[in-house]
Amino acid sequence: MIAFYNGEFLPIEKISISPFDRGFLFADGVYEALRTYNKKLFMLQKHLERLKYSLEQINLNFSEFNQLENIIYRCAELNSLDTDFSTYIQITRGVSFPRTHYYSNQIKPNLFVFVSPLKNRGREINEGVSVTLEQDVRWSRCDIKSIALLPNVLANHKAISEGHYEAVLFRDNFITEGSHTNFFAVKNDSIITAPLSNYILNGVTRSIIFNLCEENNIQIIEEYILLDEIFTYDEFFLTGTTTEITPVVKIGNRMVGDGKPGKLTRKIQKLFYEFVRKH
Ligand SMILES: Cc1ncc(COP(=O)(O)O)c(C=O)c1O
Repeated sequence: MIAFYNGEFLPIEKISISPFDRGFLFADGVYEALRTYNKKLFMLQKHLERLKYSLEQINLNFSEFNQLENIIYRCAELNSLDTDFSTYIQITRGVSFPRTHYYSNQIKPNLFVFVSPLKNRGREINEGVSVTLEQDVRWSRCDIKSIALLPNVLANHKAISEGHYEAVLFRDNFITEGSHTNFFAVKNDSIITAPLSNYILNGVTRSIIFNLCEENNIQIIEEYILLDEIFTYDEFFLTGTTTEITPVVKIGNRMVGDGKPGKLTRKIQKLFYEFVRKH
């Protein structure tokens, strides 16, 4: 695999990163993940805007936004990827020595980009998935796409080890989001999802769902899905760049409805793929 690191395209085994990189020592950095449809980067501007936001929130000066698009396509070319692919962009604050929490604004950030072929997720999208509910023990700046993901890693690992696709997280009685997805419910033909705040990531797919609902007269409400009322909702789905719109048909060991993707979830999927075809 050829990847990009600080100005060079190199075989992955030739990339060397200092152990004094603040990303390695402090998880002091942010990232973005996006994908292509028909080999074109999907919602690139939205992802770049969010990357800029994350960087601003952690006071990390990075100015090479204009180069990212070319870097990604060149990576795909160098890896002879001729299918749709996902891409990961990581920017850490850079290397500083000795190890101190304090950082100088003069440090040069480290930029890492790689691409990989997308997995076929047809089965999950068509048949739906099972999720578990886990306490949200993350910090209170989940609006920043920080590389410090240990709580997400542990929750997702536990969910997958127990045979589920995703861990859906709650704080007190409020469902926030999944470990790497946003979470939606349907009740009485309205769609419900957690409001934007410091407790969730402002998902690009989430924002597409809002636009699609507005354009198609589907009521969408930003309010918390309640943990103690979880089985009073009619349908659920997860959204994310690679998760797309994935129906949730089981929570823990309990089936949602008849265990098949719900009607409104199907409609949102259809509207989403129509939107994808036009972009
Ligand atoms: C915690 C979290 N929430 C939500 C999402 C979905 O965001 P997007 O639709 O922009 O991929 C992600 C994606 O990585 C995520 O990590």
